[in-house]
Amino acid sequence: MHKPVMVREVIELTKPKIDSIVIDATFGFGGHARAFYEIVKNGLIVGFEKNPFTYEIAKELYKNYERIRIFNVGYENMLEVIEKLELVGKVDIVIFDLGLSLFLIKKSNLGFSYKSDEVLDMRFNPNEGKPLYEILEKLEQKEIEKILRNYGDIKHARKISYEIVRNKPIRRTIQLREIVERLAPRNKKDKLLKKTFQAFRIFVNDEVNTIKKGLLNAYKCLKIEGRLAVLSYHSIEDRIVKNLSKSPLFIPLFKKPLTPSQEEILENPRSRSAKLRVFLKK
Ligand SMILES: C[S@@+](CC[C@H](N)C(=O)[O-])C[C@H]1O[C@@H](n2cnc3c(N)ncnc32)[C@H](O)[C@@H]1O
Repeated sequence: MHKPVMVREVIELTKPKIDSIVIDATFGFGGHARAFYEIVKNGLIVGFEKNPFTYEIAKELYKNYERIRIFNVGYENMLEVIEKLELVGKVDIVIFDLGLSLFLIKKSNLGFSYKSDEVLDMRFNPNEGKPLYEILEKLEQKEIEKILRNYGDIKHARKISYEIVRNKPIRRTIQLREIVERLAPRNKKDKLLKKTFQAFRIFVNDEVNTIKKGLLNAYKCLKIEGRLAVLSYHSIEDRIVKNLSKSPLFIPLFKKPLTPSQEEILENPRSRSAKLRVFLKK
């Protein structure tokens, strides 16, 4: 269902060997993990998946793959698991494939997409934290405006936030969609909807801090000269990843990120916004 993005490039640049230990920090349905599995015949793949529905399906799909172990734990908390497995400082490769899977968009019923009418939840793990509809009830207009500006770079942030407050309670995706559509210029409706939903998703899941924490965990898990590969899908994610180049922790393999080939974009249009950055642990 979900086509993994830039698999060939990820494998070529992370150079797995037969006995490599690989962490897939965003396991999903294991598109990337499976490519590693083909090579890592005597090693181990440790997967982390925060969404409990995705995790349950993945666990079933991979129950007979003896070198794959999957945990329903967010990558921000992966260190505890890696400590228990006694793998801290021993991992060869960590991969992050940030963003949403097709399953989360189409089947999770968590309100990630403006294209269907669902409860406005947006938590990767609905057992942790609060859903967006509850958060929106408590937030002041100014705070909503700030979220839309900071995480969506949205020019209409003030108007949208006023309308959200005026139309409370906003409990379903369709209500948010109607507000945004009313305020968007005719040819920019989709773009504004995408940005608005993305901004709220980043906020609900505290994604900026979570990604930073995950990358730091990856550093701790990797061995020296171990490789970190990160696929990001929008500028906020990419900025966090790019900043690793300036940190004393990692050396980037390339200054500029790699992007999918034309063939891949044609075959899988969802891959078009992907940026791949690969680093070596110092
Ligand atoms: C783009 S998908 C990964 C797809 C996967 N590479 C594949 O090919 O099947 C991102 C996945 O990361 C999960 N996720 C989001 N935040 C996470 C977190 N903090 N820790 C672990 N998994 C997370 C999502 O639930 C989603 O399944």
